[in-house]
Amino acid sequence: MRRAVAATIKGFERVVRALPDAIALGERAVETSFEAGARLDGNGVGYETIAAAGPHATTLHWIRNNGPVRPGDLLLLDAGVEVDSLYTADITRTIPVSGRYSAVQRRVWEAVVDAADAAFAAARPGNLFRDVHDAAMRVIAERLEEWGLLPVTAAEALSPEGQQHRRWMVHGTSHHLGLDVHDCAASRAALYLDGRLEAGMVFTIEPGLYFKPEDLAVPEEYRGIGCRCEDDILITAAGAENLSAALPRRAAAIEEWMAAIG
Ligand code: GLY
Ligand code: MN
Ligand code: MN
Repeated sequence: MRRAVAATIKGFERVVRALPDAIALGERAVETSFEAGARLDGNGVGYETIAAAGPHATTLHWIRNNGPVRPGDLLLLDAGVEVDSLYTADITRTIPVSGRYSAVQRRVWEAVVDAADAAFAAARPGNLFRDVHDAAMRVIAERLEEWGLLPVTAAEALSPEGQQHRRWMVHGTSHHLGLDVHDCAASRAALYLDGRLEAGMVFTIEPGLYFKPEDLAVPEEYRGIGCRCEDDILITAAGAENLSAALPRRAAAIEEWMAAIG
């Protein structure tokens, strides 16, 4: 897993270097630059690359990768290198094509990273797998309330009969990861969603927020913004380790990282 993560991080750097090509040629240049690296540094990709620029990031599994990449837009890259042992990483960053987040892009991205941090804090042996998701959802609901987007309070949204925040966060926060990108996905609920975290488990933490371009329930400035932050996490006896921590997460760190590569 460590080798897969290291090769994947190298692939993300390759994509940043290829951004001028991507601006000229579109998302296909993002896909091909990552996939060339995956083949050179590993066995190949662990799953179909999601290279989603601008509003395409609001489509959950955008794998057509045939759209434009425009300066000023965000690029959501969800990609993983599978190494020769056949283990794969699964990492996502949503980066500003021009190298700097706009104010609203930064607000959404930082909220997603805050949700991921809350999920990390809940990821320790003995907790339930679903506790990690619940921790992320609390932050997502609170931010949406703060921005005036929720039609109810965050507390009401977080109740089982509420869930209004899920309009903009439409997937689970985590899945197991290893030989398969969605490892052991057919496991019984008792061993998965309702299962307890144990040292040695590896899974993703990947909250997101997705505002469709045509979503009239949010102010215009949010429309067309999709963000996901995905890291690969190892449960240890003492807590957890973010295996993909070497890839910058916070907006300022991503901007610095892009400037250093560019
Ligand atoms: N790359 C697919 C997923 O994040 O689950
Ligand atoms: Mn994933
Ligand atoms: Mn992913």
